[in-house]
Amino acid sequence: MAFVNEDNLTELAGQRWASAHDPRLAELITALVRHLHEFAREVRLTEDEWAAAMDWLAATGRMSDEKRQEFILASDVLGLSTLVVQLNNRFTAKATPATVLGPFHIDGSPPAEFGFDMAAGLDGTPLFITGTVTDTGGTPLPGAVLDVWQADTDGYYESQLPEVDEARLRAKYRAREDGTYCVRTIAPKGYSIPMDGPVGDLLSRTGISHFRPAHVHFMLDEPGHRKLITHLFQEGADYLDTDVVFGTKDALVVPFTERPAGPSPDGGHLDRPFLHATFDFVLEPTPS
Ligand code: BEZ
Ligand code: FE
Repeated sequence: MAFVNEDNLTELAGQRWASAHDPRLAELITALVRHLHEFAREVRLTEDEWAAAMDWLAATGRMSDEKRQEFILASDVLGLSTLVVQLNNRFTAKATPATVLGPFHIDGSPPAEFGFDMAAGLDGTPLFITGTVTDTGGTPLPGAVLDVWQADTDGYYESQLPEVDEARLRAKYRAREDGTYCVRTIAPKGYSIPMDGPVGDLLSRTGISHFRPAHVHFMLDEPGHRKLITHLFQEGADYLDTDVVFGTKDALVVPFTERPAGPSPDGGHLDRPFLHATFDFVLEPTPS
């Protein structure tokens, strides 16, 4: 039997982990071992650096719970989340591209009809987002559900505000018979990702901007279609080209056009100026 030395360690560890009962687990872990060892060799990792990394991982775990996903945040700022989204959502060119989910989605948002104001009672510039939901062949998807969520004007999501006990800046809109939808909300602002944990600590030791550009999140999960998780970004917003989680895509940047007080896109009337964005969501049918 061969004992361990620097030259054979990677191969021995790989062989050992190849015994995982599930073949996919074996593939994942043997590749992980190979790349971790290669990393340590390439940078000649010191014991102090290894210990600091273990402390950082432990702190990241301590910071994480069902509301605060510090490991996901780490994956986001390292670009891994966006890479995994890209690898798994290679839609055809006609379909709306996907981007990162982020840690702030809450399941079970209340149902909302055309024009429902998901920002009722909150200060901010009114924003209407209207358009259609169709498949890549242009066929409208009546009744399609658009699960929408966003941060408030201070950059906080409901899940970051323990005192909020009812749905706030989130709702599940339903497209009408002709596939049209209308979201009413307030204009989002760019915001900082949470900086009070180990991810923020690491970022603050770099020149990286810790901000995300103004955006609204959407999730559409229609039977017979690939699930779409995406955002719409405000054209001209700050941080579009430095998004800390690498989530911005050209096709998702839309103008938020200023409109005077008067008729509003929900068929009503507003007595103050508002913003209007239009966007047609196109879902890729699942292969039959
Ligand atoms: C978000 O857009 O909600 C988000 C995404 C990744 C990290 C932090 C926030
Ligand atoms: Fe967000």
